Amino acid sequence: MTQDELKALVGQAALAYVVPGSIVGVGTGSTVNCFIDALATMKDQIRGAVSSSVKSTERMQALGIPVFDANTIESIPVYIDGADEIDHSGCMIKGGGAALTREKIVADLAERFVCIADESKLVPVMGRFPLPVEVIPMAAAQVARRFAASYRGTATVREGVVTDNGNLILDVRGLQITDPLAMETEVNQWPGVVTVGIFGRHKAQVCLLGTSQGVKTLG
Ligand code: A5P
Repeated sequence: MTQDELKALVGQAALAYVVPGSIVGVGTGSTVNCFIDALATMKDQIRGAVSSSVKSTERMQALGIPVFDANTIESIPVYIDGADEIDHSGCMIKGGGAALTREKIVADLAERFVCIADESKLVPVMGRFPLPVEVIPMAAAQVARRFAASYRGTATVREGVVTDNGNLILDVRGLQITDPLAMETEVNQWPGVVTVGIFGRHKAQVCLLGTSQGVKTLG
């Protein structure tokens, strides 16, 4: 199976986690696009969605799925999103699509995070995928220096990208994220960091992994 076919497979499989009559948390990315297309087939069975990006909002609205403002919602049963890397404990690197801040906000509203990913995303230790960090523009150089000093990471500004929140993305290479929670906690405290793309406090409770043998459920 191709990677696209695996993404379609897990996008479809995630429908089993959608709670009828509820508002569904919807992430961002090519795997989630498959989920959104599948979700449209049951749009009459849900109240709607809360979205983690302008792109996902536009895709859902084009398919007739009502999108709610996150500020009007206290809690949702499930958030469904992809990942750039996921480890065996459910911690993830996210933000390859630059939507990490809104993804973490919607994940925070959810009782359960269901990650959908093809098998290439499952890793023993995270860090091969460059870690995305959303930063206030005036802090980019200082945060990059801190990554070099604290973790020997090399941070570069993602060219031509401004987030939905008007900020920059740093991509940090050369990391071995052996303690995701500790790194997430520390980096979150650096001035100018809006969101670090480690999802340790908001890790996946379930991962639907697309493999050539079918969908494997982890967690
Ligand atoms: C978006 O900012 C990311 O967190 C995505 O969830 C992640 O990059 C996975 O994207 P794909 O499904 O396109 O691989």
